[in-house]
Amino acid sequence: MTPHQNKPAVSSPADILLSIDARSAYADAIGGEGVARADVDALSAELARAHALMTERRRGGLEAEYACLNLHDAMQESLPAIESDAERLRAFTDVIVIGIGGSNLGVMAVAQALAYGDRKNAGPRLHFVDNIDPDYLHDLLATLRAEATAVIAVSKSGGTIETATQYLVIREWLERTRGRDAARAQQWVVTDPQQGWLRALSRTEGLRALPVPPKVGGRYSVLTAVGLLPLAASGVDVRALLAGARTNAARCESPRASDNPALELAALYYLLDVRKDKRLSILMPYVHSLRLFGDWYRQLWAESLGKRRTDGTPAGTLPVTAVGAIDQHSQLQMYLESRRDKVFTFLALGRWTHEVPIPLPESARATFPYLAGKRLNDVLAAEFLATRQVITDYGHPNLTIHLPRLTADVLGQLIDLYQRVTVYAGILYGINPLDQPAVESGKRLAVQYLQGAKQT
Ligand code: PA5
Repeated sequence: MTPHQNKPAVSSPADILLSIDARSAYADAIGGEGVARADVDALSAELARAHALMTERRRGGLEAEYACLNLHDAMQESLPAIESDAERLRAFTDVIVIGIGGSNLGVMAVAQALAYGDRKNAGPRLHFVDNIDPDYLHDLLATLRAEATAVIAVSKSGGTIETATQYLVIREWLERTRGRDAARAQQWVVTDPQQGWLRALSRTEGLRALPVPPKVGGRYSVLTAVGLLPLAASGVDVRALLAGARTNAARCESPRASDNPALELAALYYLLDVRKDKRLSILMPYVHSLRLFGDWYRQLWAESLGKRRTDGTPAGTLPVTAVGAIDQHSQLQMYLESRRDKVFTFLALGRWTHEVPIPLPESARATFPYLAGKRLNDVLAAEFLATRQVITDYGHPNLTIHLPRLTADVLGQLIDLYQRVTVYAGILYGINPLDQPAVESGKRLAVQYLQGAKQT
C-alpha cells in the first residue's frame, strides 16, 4: 500500500508549539529519585537570579555576551545576504560543507531532521566533511563532478586544523579540474568577520565570505550563517527556523520556573544532578531523523557545562545519546537495572509527514492479530509509551518533549529551548557556559605535535 501523506491541518497551538511533560521528573510521580516540588520552590530566588543575569547579558543584540539567545531577531538583517548566497549555491548539484564540532553538528542535525518533510523545494545534496577520514574524503571527491560542486568552509576561528586541511585538499581538487578563477567562484567561507586564516584567504582571493558573529560560540551558532547558509541552499525554510526560535524565546520570559519551560528544565536537570546524583543525561528521540540532533545536544551540553567551578568541584552531567526504538535493543537493559544515575529525556513526534499502513496478509494474521488496521506510526508510538512506562515504573526520572510535527519552525523552538536550558544550567552551576578552555588546549597541543615541538 502507498503511504498516506498527512494533509496540513488547520493550526491550533497544539499543532505548532512544542510541549513538555515533566511530571515523571518529580518525586510525587516517581518517588524518592524524583525532584521534590519544594526543592524547585526553594530554588526560586536562584532561578530568578539566573533569569535576571541571562536577560541582562542578552541585551545588545549581536554584541551581547549571550548573543546566541538573540539570533531570531539579530540575524534578520543578514538574512537577505544569506539567502542570496544560498540561491547561488542552488545552481550546484552538490555542496560540500566542511566544519567540525559546533561548526557542523547543528547544520547536520537540522538537515537530517528535515530530510523527509519540511522543505520548500529540494536543493543541492549536502555532503558533510567533519572528521578527518582520508578514505571517505578520497571516495567522496571521486564520486562528485567538480564543475557541479560548491564548497562551504565553516570555521569561527578560521584555522581549525581538521577544517583547514580538508578545505586545502578540496580546493586543490576544484582548481585542478576547473582552473583557479572558476574554482574561486565555487567556494564560500563562513568565519570571523575580521580574524583568522580563512578571513585573510577570502580577502586575498576574493572568496564569498559570511560572518560568524564574534560573540556567538560554535555550538550555539546553528542559527547564524553557519547553519542558515547551507540549510537555505538545501531548501530549508530558514525564516521559519528563526521564527520558531522567537516563539520559544517569547515563552521563556518569566523568572518563574512554572511559567518558563527552559527555566523549569534547567532547574530539574540541575537538582537531579546535585540532589539526586543523576550524573548521566540521556536524550532519546523516538524519531530516527533526530538522531543527529542528539549529537548536537551532546556537544552543547558537554562542552558548555563540563567545567570546574571556582571552588574546584566539577559541574555538569554526561550527555548520552540514544534513539528509539533501536536502543531498546541495545542500552535499555543497562538503563533500567544498572546504576541509578540517569535522567531520561524523550523526544516524541505528534504527527509524521507520512502514515504507513501495515499490510496484513493471511500468513501474518495469526501471529500478529493486534496489527490489524495499524500503521508503522502506531508501532513506534507503542514502543515509546512502553519504554517510558518501564523507565517510570523502575522509578527513574524522565521528561518528554512533544514535538507536534517535524517542521523548521518546531526545530527552531527546540534549538532555542536547549540553548536556553544550557545557559540557565551553566548559571546555576556557577560556571561559564560559553567557553571551552579544554578544547582550545587540545587544539594547541595538536599543532605542537605537527610542528614536532611535542613527541609521543
Ligand atoms: O563549540 C565550539 O566552540 C567548538 O566545538 C568549535 O565549534 C569547534 O572546535 C570548531 O571550531 P571552529 O569553528 O573555530 O573551526
